[in-house]
Amino acid sequence: MRSFGTRGRVYPDKHYIVPRTEEIRDFINRIKEGRYIVLFAPRQTGKTTFFRFAAEALTTEDQHYFPIQLNFEEYKNLNVTDFYSSFHRELCRELERGIQRRGKVPSVALEQLLTKSKITDHVSMRYIFENLTNFLNLHYKLDPKIVLIIDEFDGIPQSVVSDFLHSLRNIYLSDELQCPHSVSIVGVKSIAQLNYDRSVSPFNIQDEFNLQNFSLEQISELLLQWTDEVGQAFDSEVIVTLHKQTAGQPFLVNRFAQILTEELDIPKTETIRMEHFLTAHEQMLDEQNTNIQHLLTNVRRDRRFEKLLMRITSYERGLPFTLDNEIINELVMYGVIKKGDDRMCEIANPIYQHRIMQAFKPKKA
Ligand SMILES: Nc1ncnc2c1ncn2[C@@H]1O[C@H](COP(=O)(O)OP(=O)(O)OP(=O)(O)O)[C@@H](O)[C@H]1O
Ligand SMILES: [Mg+2]
Repeated sequence: MRSFGTRGRVYPDKHYIVPRTEEIRDFINRIKEGRYIVLFAPRQTGKTTFFRFAAEALTTEDQHYFPIQLNFEEYKNLNVTDFYSSFHRELCRELERGIQRRGKVPSVALEQLLTKSKITDHVSMRYIFENLTNFLNLHYKLDPKIVLIIDEFDGIPQSVVSDFLHSLRNIYLSDELQCPHSVSIVGVKSIAQLNYDRSVSPFNIQDEFNLQNFSLEQISELLLQWTDEVGQAFDSEVIVTLHKQTAGQPFLVNRFAQILTEELDIPKTETIRMEHFLTAHEQMLDEQNTNIQHLLTNVRRDRRFEKLLMRITSYERGLPFTLDNEIINELVMYGVIKKGDDRMCEIANPIYQHRIMQAFKPKKA
């Protein structure tokens, strides 16, 4: 039986899933058009799950697309040489996987690519990419379109980021056949926020992709999978309230569903009603889960955050939304605040609002 997942990316055979079909279609179309895409969104919004689904859908649709999926999470403290040697190793590993997936056997040629032609810097990286399509054609009779996807891009070392992005830009703007055909950079901090040398971003070719929270329809679709499998329905008021309380934040939605279906011992013959939801809600306002821990760590990062958040929550003195304000910008990046319908700052959802007010409430002696 599947369940609602809250520990990292979710898998369709183990978890109930929001397929995000339309968003995936949009993403795939951009890849096919050879765009260089950036996908920046706060923690636990489903970035990794999303591009993994997209890469799979893309190769199922057309085998020519050859995704190479890397992750820079552990690279932060590497020097330039170690960064590129790890990059090279992971690149070769992904090539090997891709070759095997296409029913071919990795050969001496790939071994040689791994041992002989080293990537030591951004220029040699560009050379390898330039020759990669020919290489795969010559040795494996593949005519691939390389799709480079880098997760946790913010882990890129400071000393590397500028040259690395310049090289990608060079590839994108060159008249030659583009390899990688498409690049996706995924992370929490945008390129401007990486703050590498305060100069203008060399990645001015980027196509921004916004990954939205779950809509009411998507939440209904998610919960219906439980109902179809187990026979237990959710009252429609529960679904609407769950959407309002979480504003569709993917982790919070799943955590609510997990409490309601696994932890409250509601007989499976009973419909999940508002009284059950209120118990789950109470728990959510008190418990420590990874998402709330992130939230509280983030809002305590800088003393100026408290003042600003308190102003946002006070009804008399709201705060106009502008990303030009450094503090607002940073809190948006962490997923703590968003632009409200009235163009004022708003806390991202009522659950966060409650937890923030509780965290900053004056302590009684
Ligand atoms: N398509 C989906 N369907 C259902 N739930 C999802 C989906 N995508 C994400 N989630 C929920 O969001 C959580 C985080 O997913 P994921 O690890 O993909 O996000 P992320 O943005 O990559 O997180 P991080 O920034 O921590 O790496 C999952 O554990 C699950 O609760
Ligand atoms: Mg992730």
